[in-house]
Amino acid sequence: MKLSLFSLFSLFASVAVAAPAVPGWRFDLKAERSGIVALEAIVVSPTLVVFFDRASDDPLQINNHSAWGALWNLETSTVRPLDVLTNSFCASGALLSNGTMASVGGDPRGFPGNPDIEPGLQGLRIFEPCASPTGDGCTLFEDPQTLHLLESRWYPSSIRIFDGSLLIVGGTHVNENFYNLHPANSFEFFPRKEDTPRPSAFLERSLPANLFPRIFALPDGKVFMVAGNQSIIYDIEANTERILPDLPNNVHVTNPIDGSAILLPLSPPDFVPEVLVCGGTQTDPIDPLLLSSQTPATTQCSRITLTEEGIAKGWEVEHMLEPRTMPELVHIPNGQVLIANGARSGFAAIKQVQDPIGNSNSDHAVLVPSLYTPDAPLGLRISNAGMPSSGIARVYHSSITLTPQGNFLVAGSNPNANTTVGPGIKFPSEFRVQTLDPPFMFVERPKILNTPEKLAFNKSFTVPISIPLTLARPGAKVQVSLMDLGFSSHAFHSSARLVFMDATISQNRKSLTFTTPPNGRVFPPGPATIFLTIDDVTSEGAWVMMGSGNSPPTLE
Ligand SMILES: *[C@@H]1O[C@H](CO)[C@@H](O)[C@H](O)[C@H]1NC(C)=O
Ligand SMILES: *[C@@H]1O[C@H](CO)[C@@H](O)[C@H](O)[C@H]1NC(C)=O
Ligand SMILES: *[C@@H]1O[C@H](CO)[C@@H](O)[C@H](O)[C@H]1NC(C)=O
Ligand SMILES: *[C@@H]1O[C@H](CO)[C@@H](O)[C@H](O)[C@H]1NC(C)=O
Ligand SMILES: *[C@@H]1O[C@H](CO)[C@@H](O)[C@H](O)[C@H]1NC(C)=O
Repeated sequence: MKLSLFSLFSLFASVAVAAPAVPGWRFDLKAERSGIVALEAIVVSPTLVVFFDRASDDPLQINNHSAWGALWNLETSTVRPLDVLTNSFCASGALLSNGTMASVGGDPRGFPGNPDIEPGLQGLRIFEPCASPTGDGCTLFEDPQTLHLLESRWYPSSIRIFDGSLLIVGGTHVNENFYNLHPANSFEFFPRKEDTPRPSAFLERSLPANLFPRIFALPDGKVFMVAGNQSIIYDIEANTERILPDLPNNVHVTNPIDGSAILLPLSPPDFVPEVLVCGGTQTDPIDPLLLSSQTPATTQCSRITLTEEGIAKGWEVEHMLEPRTMPELVHIPNGQVLIANGARSGFAAIKQVQDPIGNSNSDHAVLVPSLYTPDAPLGLRISNAGMPSSGIARVYHSSITLTPQGNFLVAGSNPNANTTVGPGIKFPSEFRVQTLDPPFMFVERPKILNTPEKLAFNKSFTVPISIPLTLARPGAKVQVSLMDLGFSSHAFHSSARLVFMDATISQNRKSLTFTTPPNGRVFPPGPATIFLTIDDVTSEGAWVMMGSGNSPPTLE
């Protein structure tokens, strides 16, 4: 009997080994390189991503000079240059309510040997909606003399707000060495709402490490902001700020002491906003020569619920599996959050701390992403079980974005002043492009077969779908997410948003009925991607226009 029990076990063991491998997460290296350092990335159509670099000596050429803008084709994994006039280095951007991408701010400088560069500080770069899947005929529009920001801004943040326009926050007036010593402590809008920028006491207080403030449009139309270790809710309509508790334990999270932050998924009926802030460093912003590439980053994540009760309770602390400076937090359509990129020690920016690695202020790149599950119990939310290693350091000036296909595009990294340093350097200018493919990319997926081009707010829509037999299970978990894929720059995904919609699948599993968010405060009007997830298997995204598609400002 004992023997047969043993053989039963070994039978199970061999069955387990022989069974087809459960598909896991995979990094996939693309043959084509990005051509420019993709330090900013934004999905602008179902097939196209705009990359921006600084005006530099990138290998990709246009009009006989190095390009610093490019279009990445998600279908073919190929790149083509974009002609940019102003220096887009360390800019921000977003999609507007009419589908146009606006890139804002940038670097005051030109670059030796690259002649055609205008200063980017007040830059406003317009990429109109592009219907060509390959980007044929789609170009950037710039007219720096007449179309520019009110104030000079290097390292600003920007988000689409409830009326479909951009709120632009902070930045610096000059090419700073490390901290923000010439701050643009103000807010402005694109299109303009007034002729002068709005002064911000919050930005004043959060100096000197307050570049790229982490900001979110809340479902009541107000804006949450975190910079340094301070946070507020800003009321755009009343132009007032409400001070929230500081992040605990002296953790600072904005450039050059970069952590990251994300607005967790919003769910009907109440769309209660919760913010998660992860990484950064437990240090005061002191003399950079007292900081080191080996200064440990923090493992801390801090989470707050933005209701009266939640604010009274304050920040709840939990910990990542490893310390991370410059992590990026990205929504996954099933409501989890991907924590990717960054390093275990050091800081953002280039060669200012006492012992840079080559030119890098950071060291010990983190290669394995983690998953954060918002509704798991505290202490059990973060895991990297089964997550692969990227094999490629993605430190300062890297980017990552969810794509309409449902996987992640990972590119960039360059803690150097140009692209010609090396070879043999530990953190080179990185042109290799990867996707990070979730397990559902390797199985039969549900499909959204068709959607209206435009979706009105607070309405119910029924669309045709197909569901593979493998997922046709009674009681399967169905999730429909309406997402803004965000603008990735400097370890922050501005405007990124996931709003779950109430949804049901018909008896015959051939149609899906969902209800759009009540108004543009819950999901600012503009381009959106809808994903259908059944038991954690996610469809490709359907690219739609949430709202009227009118130019901003618009309330529908
Ligand atoms: C690029 O340079 C070549 C050779 O110098 C010249 O013939 C060509 O006209 C230039 N093209 C542009 C767009 O300036
Ligand atoms: C926030 O940062 C300031 C300046 O670095 C520091 O003095 C303060 O103690 C920090 N607050 C908390 C709650 O850690
Ligand atoms: C590129 O950077 C290196 C080191 O930072 C510097 O020596 C070199 O002059 C730079 N090249 C250009 C063209 O700026
Ligand atoms: C949404 O529509 C329902 C009726 O379907 C209505 O009762 C409700 O007031 C609407 N909400 C908004 C925010 O317009
Ligand atoms: C969208 O609005 C912006 C801001 O007013 C404008 O610059 C752009 O041309 C508009 N695009 C379209 C397609 O209407």
